[in-house]
Amino acid sequence: MDDHHPDLILRGAPAGYAAPAGCHALTVTEVHHYTDRLFRFRVTRPASFRFRSGEFVMIGLPNAERPVMRAYSIASPAWDDTLEFYSIKVPDGPLTQHLQQIRAGDTVLMRQKATGTLVLDALKPGKRLWMLSTGTGIAPFASLIRDPDTYDRFEQVILMHGCREVAELAYGAEITHATRHDPLVGELAHDRLRLLSSATREDYPVRKRVTDLITSGDIYSMLDVPPISAQDDRVMICGSIAMLGDCKAICLTRGLEEGANNRPAEFVVEKAFVT
Ligand code: A2P
Repeated sequence: MDDHHPDLILRGAPAGYAAPAGCHALTVTEVHHYTDRLFRFRVTRPASFRFRSGEFVMIGLPNAERPVMRAYSIASPAWDDTLEFYSIKVPDGPLTQHLQQIRAGDTVLMRQKATGTLVLDALKPGKRLWMLSTGTGIAPFASLIRDPDTYDRFEQVILMHGCREVAELAYGAEITHATRHDPLVGELAHDRLRLLSSATREDYPVRKRVTDLITSGDIYSMLDVPPISAQDDRVMICGSIAMLGDCKAICLTRGLEEGANNRPAEFVVEKAFVT
């Protein structure tokens, strides 16, 4: 059954438009396309909306009576007055085939509650925080690296981002640069945030998968840090199902335990939601 209206996107902010129950109707303020598969966008933030850096929300378009909603990690930090999202574009994806067409001024729907396990509260204190990501799995870390709390809790923050192609690494480089020069967290992050990007299917200085960089030990010599241990290291993982499985196995082999909101431990996992 196709319940789409012919007008797939609400251009501008039509007077009198009411969001479905439980949803905020937000205005797009900025859209930036990186490749034919990746883009980011910003929307206005409702004054009442609270979330913890690293959490996700359900996003949709006002293009149907029962809009298709998909989980999106919030890529902006909890203190920011707008909300940022980083998205894949899937040609026949129920949501992203339309979402990729949004422009500034359009309307996006967001359910009112944020949730998720990639939060600082789900980890025990430690020295180093590893953020392991592939593809759009970097989104929750774009939020966390810009949160001063991250640097209050950890001496070092290591963001690893693996993609197939070099152009797909641009967002990670951009947010890392912005964080190091941010008036609020720049000073904290400048020497303590490290980014390690790898492109596995193109010519690039680092061509190994994030998992292979860890199991081979290459990453420790590249960053001059000791091997991951349950005593000092905490790990957050976000990527494809296969990537999550492999990263989780690495953590378990090293004696780290999986944490949750109500039971903080040494590592946490979240699927990068794709559609
Ligand atoms: P590779 O090119 O060797 O498959 P994808 O778009 O398939 O999610 O891949 C994004 C990045 O994640 C690619 O660099 C890919 O490497 C890598 N990747 C795919 N599967 C895994 C996995 N199980 N563990 C770690 N990295 C992975």
